[in-house]
Amino acid sequence: MKKLTFIGSGKIAESMILGLISSQYLKENICICSPDEKSRTTIANQYSLKNFKNNIHGMHIGDVIILAVKPNIIPTVCSEIKHIENLSNKIIISVAAGINIEKINKYIGEKNTTIVRAMPNTPVLVNQGVIGLYAKKIHTNQKKFITTLFNKIGKTFWLSHENELNGIIAVASSAPAYFFLMMESMQHAAENMGLNKEYIKELIVQTAKGSSILAEHFQDKSFEVLKQHVISKGGTTEAALNLFEKYNFKKIIEKAMRSAANKSKEIECNLN
Ligand SMILES: NC(=O)c1ccc[n+]([C@@H]2O[C@H](COP(=O)([O-])OP(=O)(O)OC[C@H]3O[C@@H](n4cnc5c(N)ncnc54)[C@H](OP(=O)(O)O)[C@@H]3O)[C@@H](O)[C@H]2O)c1
Repeated sequence: MKKLTFIGSGKIAESMILGLISSQYLKENICICSPDEKSRTTIANQYSLKNFKNNIHGMHIGDVIILAVKPNIIPTVCSEIKHIENLSNKIIISVAAGINIEKINKYIGEKNTTIVRAMPNTPVLVNQGVIGLYAKKIHTNQKKFITTLFNKIGKTFWLSHENELNGIIAVASSAPAYFFLMMESMQHAAENMGLNKEYIKELIVQTAKGSSILAEHFQDKSFEVLKQHVISKGGTTEAALNLFEKYNFKKIIEKAMRSAANKSKEIECNLN
C-alpha cells in the first residue's frame, strides 16, 4: 500500500482522509502536514495519523503527495517539493482549482515526476464523491493506482483535456453547495409554512436521496422525463415549477455555474 502525504489539513483533505480510512486504507499509510496546528492535530489525533508542522518531513515519507491547499499557497508548497530527493519515484496530486500542470511543474523546478490534477467534491467523505482526473503524462500502472485510490471514495472520471477540469469544478466540485442551498431554502420555507421542525430536515434529505437514487436507477431517462413523472396537469408540482420558470431558475443556475468555472480560469490567469 502506497504512503499518502496530505499537504493542507482543511475541508477537502479531511473529507478525502475520512473517506479513505472508512474504505480500509490503512491509517499507518496516511500522513498529514500543515502549519495549521489546530486543524492538523484535530484530524491527526482523531485518527492517529502521522502529522508534521513542517511539510518537507511529510513529503519525504509519501509515495504520493497530495496538495490540498488554497491555490495561492501552491507556489509555496511546490517550492518545498523542489528539495525532495527521488521525486521521480513519487506522484504529485494537486486538488487546487485553477493551477495547471505546467505551472505546478514550473514551481517544482521542472522535475521528472508524475503530476496529476484531481478535482474531488466533499461527498468523498462518505465514499460517494465525484473526482475529475487529468494527467499530461502518466504510466499505465500509476493511472491504475490513482483510479483504484479514488474509486474508494467516489466515481472517477479521467478527462482528455485539462481545461475540462474547470467544468468539473462547476458541475461537481462546487455543486454539493448548490444542492445544500436548495435544501436550506426548502427548510426555511417549510419552517415559515409552519411544518414541524423536528422532521423537516429528514423529509428534505430523504427526498433528495430518493430523487438521486431514482435518477440513477433510470439511467436511460432524462431529468426532464423524471420531472414530468412528478407533474400532473393543473396540479401542485406544476404550480411550483411555473414559479421557478417565471423567475428564470435555469438561467440563474447556468450563470452560477459559469461563474464557478470562470473563477477557476481567473485563478489560473492571476498566478505566475
Ligand atoms: N472544499 C472543497 O469542496 C474543494 C473541492 C475540490 C477542490 N478543492 C481545492 O482544495 C484546496 C483546499 O480547499 P479547502 O476547501 O480544503 O480549503 P481550506 O479548508 O482552507 O484548507 C486549506 C488548508 O491548507 C492549510 N495551509 C495553509 N498554508 C499551508 C502551507 N504552507 N502548507 C500546508 N498547509 C497549508 C490551511 O491552514 P490555515 O487554515 O492555517 O491557512 C488549511 O488547513 C483548494 O485549492 C480548493 O480549490 C476544494
